[in-house]
Amino acid sequence: MKQARILVTGAAGQLGKVLTESLREKYGIHNVIATDINSLVEELPPYEYLDILNIERLKSLIDKYEINQIYHLAAILSASGERNPAFTWNINLNGLLGILNLVVEKKIERLFFPSTIAVFGNTTPRVNTAQDVPLLPETIYGMSKTSGELWCNYYHKKHGIDVRSIRYPGVIGWQSIPEGGTTDYAVEIYHAALKDKHYTCFLEKDTRLPMIYMPDVIRATIDLMAADKSDISLRYGYNLAAMSFTPEEIAASIKKHIPDFTIDYKPDFRQAIAASWTESIDDSQARKDWKWNPEYDLDSMTKDMLNNLSKTAINK
Ligand code: SER
Repeated sequence: MKQARILVTGAAGQLGKVLTESLREKYGIHNVIATDINSLVEELPPYEYLDILNIERLKSLIDKYEINQIYHLAAILSASGERNPAFTWNINLNGLLGILNLVVEKKIERLFFPSTIAVFGNTTPRVNTAQDVPLLPETIYGMSKTSGELWCNYYHKKHGIDVRSIRYPGVIGWQSIPEGGTTDYAVEIYHAALKDKHYTCFLEKDTRLPMIYMPDVIRATIDLMAADKSDISLRYGYNLAAMSFTPEEIAASIKKHIPDFTIDYKPDFRQAIAASWTESIDDSQARKDWKWNPEYDLDSMTKDMLNNLSKTAINK
């Protein structure tokens, strides 16, 4: 393969920021172009403003920077998506379709499309959820990602594009406070524990969800994209697992470090979203195809989160 020349969309997001930095460490700062509609990534040059629906601008950025790989992270998440379904569909699905067409037209060598546990729904078996299961998502976000997976698979079959995808569990990291997702509680809780020694959770105490710590999710993404083509057997979202826990269990893990930490529960509309997802994931295909293996469990993540957050200004 040629020297990687990467364009990241949604680079100002929770995952985008950390992924952009990690890609730059691996491939060199000037080989990774951060783009977003949010100007936050201006701190991270080379940066370009990009509205994902502006195909002409996207095309000109691909030409300007001689891009040969795209990580298409720009999307609206599950909770925000419910506030404006039509807008969410437009950004998430039409945004992807524009990219898929440009991947064909500009002969982009590799495309990464993040999918999610939100593709699962109430008809999906909830425990140790297998790769190929009934998908009847309850949210517009889940609908757009399920359809996105199908479009990726279709473009691979029809046009031979090299697209790779992961169904991300809830992502937890200290680098930013995520917005608009249902799994965000598992980040907020650490900030609240350090600041107020108390957290009011918007999910019920026994809502078990698949989660992953930032260093693991970044490594999974970069490893999948660097894997040999011959090792990739799925062109839609790979199931990926690291850990599963409930709000009560994450609170207990925090209490080991902050004994007077307390939590109470005031579930809102996000409870129904979380309840429609699965509890745990069978990711044997990812482990087999590209040797995926997570490093962090709940307690090692808690230790690292609290350590990093107590050092950073973000928490002050
Ligand atoms: N973390 C996402 C959300 O909560 C799920 O992919 O919306």
